[in-house]
Amino acid sequence: MSTKGNLELERLTGDASCCSSRPAAYPSSPSEWTFQHVTDVLERLVGQFDSNPLLAEPNQLRQRLEALDRIDAYLPYTPQAVLAAESIDPELYRRARTICDRFEALNCELYEAIRCEIQRGSRPDTLLQWVRPSVDIEDVNGSANDMGYDYLDELISGVFQFEEPDDRHILRDSEKAFYQPTPVRHIFRLMRLTELTATDVLVDLGSGLGHVPLLVSICTQARSIGIELEAAYIERAQQCAQRLNLNKRMFIQKDARVADLSLGTVFYLYTPFRGSILDAVLIRLKREAATRRIRICSYGPCTSVIAEESWLEAATAPEAHGIALFHSRP
Ligand SMILES: C[S@@+](CC[C@H](N)C(=O)[O-])C[C@H]1O[C@@H](n2cnc3c(N)ncnc32)[C@H](O)[C@@H]1O
Repeated sequence: MSTKGNLELERLTGDASCCSSRPAAYPSSPSEWTFQHVTDVLERLVGQFDSNPLLAEPNQLRQRLEALDRIDAYLPYTPQAVLAAESIDPELYRRARTICDRFEALNCELYEAIRCEIQRGSRPDTLLQWVRPSVDIEDVNGSANDMGYDYLDELISGVFQFEEPDDRHILRDSEKAFYQPTPVRHIFRLMRLTELTATDVLVDLGSGLGHVPLLVSICTQARSIGIELEAAYIERAQQCAQRLNLNKRMFIQKDARVADLSLGTVFYLYTPFRGSILDAVLIRLKREAATRRIRICSYGPCTSVIAEESWLEAATAPEAHGIALFHSRP
């Protein structure tokens, strides 16, 4: 993920751990970098990316994102103290910025092509072509097994173009998780595991900006519902769905403890809450399971709690770092 994407995510989630672009050969903290380090590395990167015409090819998204990540790691993080005394050669700075602008414009063309495909309602082949290799690799390796973000998250964030939610008023609560999206490859893993059909309704309990219901609506025949406590997130999810002409989805601003769950066939929880809130929602899901067979998918620490429920049967290994699937017992 490019640094720009990381910062966006970091600001949304308050989590600095998702920034992964520190170059290994240099001191780990930007404040320890010297002016000479920054100049040397930028010069090397600019030379390397300028002389590689392949990077302009449409199928080089991943490489471009990586290149942006590496350049961005030096431009915004250049230590202010060093810059105050000496400044980067303006020509080097200009060349680095030009490369970033060119790569970002090429990526935007790809995001726009994917948006057009989605808006037409056709099969999102351009999107799927980027997703398959990542999800296939994880199938071969056994599971999609870590919490980090990758190029797919950057791609989806470019396609969805969420406007910044006004989340200043959102209160912290010890049992309520703050917003953080499920890494996109895990969402595709969820869709692969559940094989959603036109008769399914996936309900994301604590849907945030709506990545899961949106992608389910784009990539499957199923309907999807996002239930989210925070109006600011619901508003952004609705806007995105409208821009993309997605009809098989619904976003409802409600506490999951009191929302109507009667339409759901598959429920998804990316650890939206814990403690008494999770207990209350599990009691409600158990009641739903008494009326019909349901499936539950989970991700993160809530999986170990869900795995303890005797009315559920694990269909995958219930691990926190990948998507877990449970079936309600008959
Ligand atoms: C970790 S985020 C997951 C977002 C989304 N499901 C995804 O995977 O991309 C958890 C979300 O649950 C929401 N949430 C927390 N408590 C809730 C509740 N009682 N009812 C509905 N949503 C809740 C939070 O506001 C946050 O947006």
